[in-house]
Amino acid sequence: MEPILKGKHIVLGITGGIAAYKSVTLLRLLVKAGAEVQVVITPSGKEFITPVTLAALSGKPVVSEFFTANTGEWHSHVDLGLWADLMVIAPATASTIGKMANGIADNMLVTTYLSAKEHVMIAPAMDLDMMAHPSTVRNLATLESYGVEIIEPAAGELASHLIGKGRMEEPENIFTRIEKYFLRRCDLKGKKVAITAGPTYEKLDPVRFIGNYSSGKMGFALAEECASRGAEVTLICGPVSIAVSDPNIVRIDVESAEEMLAAARKPFTEADFGIFAAAVADYRPESMAEHKLKREGAEDMTLRLVRNPDIAATLAAEKRDSQVFVGFALETDNEHENALKKLRKKNLDMVVLNSLQDKGAGFGTDTNKVSILSKDGTEKSFPLKSKRAVATDIVNEICVTDI
Ligand code: C5P
Repeated sequence: MEPILKGKHIVLGITGGIAAYKSVTLLRLLVKAGAEVQVVITPSGKEFITPVTLAALSGKPVVSEFFTANTGEWHSHVDLGLWADLMVIAPATASTIGKMANGIADNMLVTTYLSAKEHVMIAPAMDLDMMAHPSTVRNLATLESYGVEIIEPAAGELASHLIGKGRMEEPENIFTRIEKYFLRRCDLKGKKVAITAGPTYEKLDPVRFIGNYSSGKMGFALAEECASRGAEVTLICGPVSIAVSDPNIVRIDVESAEEMLAAARKPFTEADFGIFAAAVADYRPESMAEHKLKREGAEDMTLRLVRNPDIAATLAAEKRDSQVFVGFALETDNEHENALKKLRKKNLDMVVLNSLQDKGAGFGTDTNKVSILSKDGTEKSFPLKSKRAVATDIVNEICVTDI
């Protein structure tokens, strides 16, 4: 699984506040995650942290002035603004916030901000009274109206020893916001997604069937998540009692595994992403009785069952390289080993392992706890979450796999 920040171009702007020392940690986190980081620092920022440290960690000379004094080399803020996939200013002082809000471009950092084509985030850091001053409040509102994302400062002890709001958000949390930004950007416009969901019913006679307790909630949550990101979704579902709310989801209702496979063929062949979330019956009655089976005094009864097709394995066998297919696994022993075996056997790219050990995970519940295993052997474990939030995590992983 490729980390989402790999190869991303990030301009890290640093201004003159005590919190500048925390930017070193942020820089390290970004570089470790594979991002290319160009540090731009204001003249007063250099009073707080040395460019030597920042250049060594980022592997690039730090940009601060418009020109290199002795050579006359010009640093192009326009090029930097174009190069950046994201600009993050941390810490952002009241002075820089004011300049950004009013277009006072008297340093390299503010000119780069004005040239930035992509998203900009700022992490304000200042004393509580400066933070509460109407000019700061107004400038932040102005920046927000320009689309700048404000990473709210936390409350706590400030450099002045006063207690209040103004502490720059911790670098780890800023890093998470950056990751989330790139994941959010991963929308699915123009992508086709096919999903199987729910149980299958295998008929014994006109009134009886072999089924299971799957509610279809996980598959439906995945369909809603993909549709909300702009994908064209086809949801092939067994008998469930839930409805889809997004009009961009084409729902095909089926009953048996054989019907599900037949209905899934075309959508999965055409899909960019395929997700097999259905709980398919492994066996079905060899034949369906035409009339209701009668007791007729018999003390016992034997049913002959035959193998159902494995929908995931059948469709993934014809998978193209550009397609990403995901399956689910519910294991009771050697979970991880068995899930990986399943992934390989069925030619899947990812397997979502449902935990049976945890309360609130699995069939029928509104929550789930999963680990996502990828074909490169990497694994990510997530805490117990709502099925919709789990769907977000799964779709994020699919996007990352697709990059
Ligand atoms: O082999 P097992 O049933 O544990 O595999 C689970 C995965 O395979 C799930 O993604 C499920 O939707 C899919 N599957 C299928 N058709 C079957 C059995 C399982 O698509 N007949």
